[in-house]
Amino acid sequence: MKTLYWKNNHLFLLDQTKLPDEVIYTKCKTYREVIHAIKTLMVRGAPAIGVAAAFAMALAELAGEDLDKVAGEIKAARPTAVNLFWAVDRILKAKSRGISALDEAFLMFEEDIQTNQAIGKYGAQVIDEGDTVLTHCNAGALACVDYGTALGVIRAAVDEGKNLHVVCDETRPVCQGARLSVFEMQQEGVPVKLIVDSAAGRLMQEGKINKVVIGADRVARGGVANKIGSLMVALAAKRFNVPFYVAAPKSTFDEEISIYDVEIEERDPDEVLYFGKCRVAPEGTEVENPAFDIVPSDLITGIITENGILDPI
Ligand code: MRU
Repeated sequence: MKTLYWKNNHLFLLDQTKLPDEVIYTKCKTYREVIHAIKTLMVRGAPAIGVAAAFAMALAELAGEDLDKVAGEIKAARPTAVNLFWAVDRILKAKSRGISALDEAFLMFEEDIQTNQAIGKYGAQVIDEGDTVLTHCNAGALACVDYGTALGVIRAAVDEGKNLHVVCDETRPVCQGARLSVFEMQQEGVPVKLIVDSAAGRLMQEGKINKVVIGADRVARGGVANKIGSLMVALAAKRFNVPFYVAAPKSTFDEEISIYDVEIEERDPDEVLYFGKCRVAPEGTEVENPAFDIVPSDLITGIITENGILDPI
């Protein structure tokens, strides 16, 4: 299932806020509509945000907008996933070489799928027959154009004939694990179980998890930024000797900076105050809602990329 496609000079995005109940593609006619979709998590996950941003630049190009100005607006949509900045800069570079934004966006669309398949091929080597693999958030097809990074590793291992079980953390507050990763694994016919985030340590303590594979929003010096809750999972994995892998394309690497200099997005308190439409805390409750964690390199067994499995940087 593709997260986005281009048709008749418009970008169609699978509205992930509606999943798993409804599979609806929303039409974006302007780059501003794409920015709105990125901010509201209609399209989310680092690689998918990058490719959506590239097509946003293509929409702006078709409308005759000033692409340097538009680039700044698109980059301001979300701060943590480096793929957003990488994609916009790549379009600007392509333009300076006389390549249209749309042609470059199509190239990035195709590359994303091939890259994820390569990540899957390398990642499958560390997954053993009968493993139960825990994943956090959604680093699947829904976080990319297709196939996925962490869930791409699962797909590739299953395609090799391995019998696996997947455990998904629900991933409060937005529940990408419950809504998206469980949905994807069910569609794929992979046995999958849902747990609350706080049960991950308990399952590891009981020896019920053999591997952890998660995605990343940024890989930088000293660690990896990924969905809030990733640090707790990594700490528990270290304590109970469960190998902890990060699956990410090279476009998520930002080798110039320290991971501690990455801006961690702070999101709307209502995401925490409400569970779906139901308020779960008293009126006036003070909230802190960081959307991402930093997992230090010493907690990471390896980073699975399209070029092989690398040591953390
Ligand atoms: O807030 P989200 O849903 O965009 O966060 C997504 C994640 O944290 C993913 O794990 C990450 O982007 C990797 S996607 C291959």
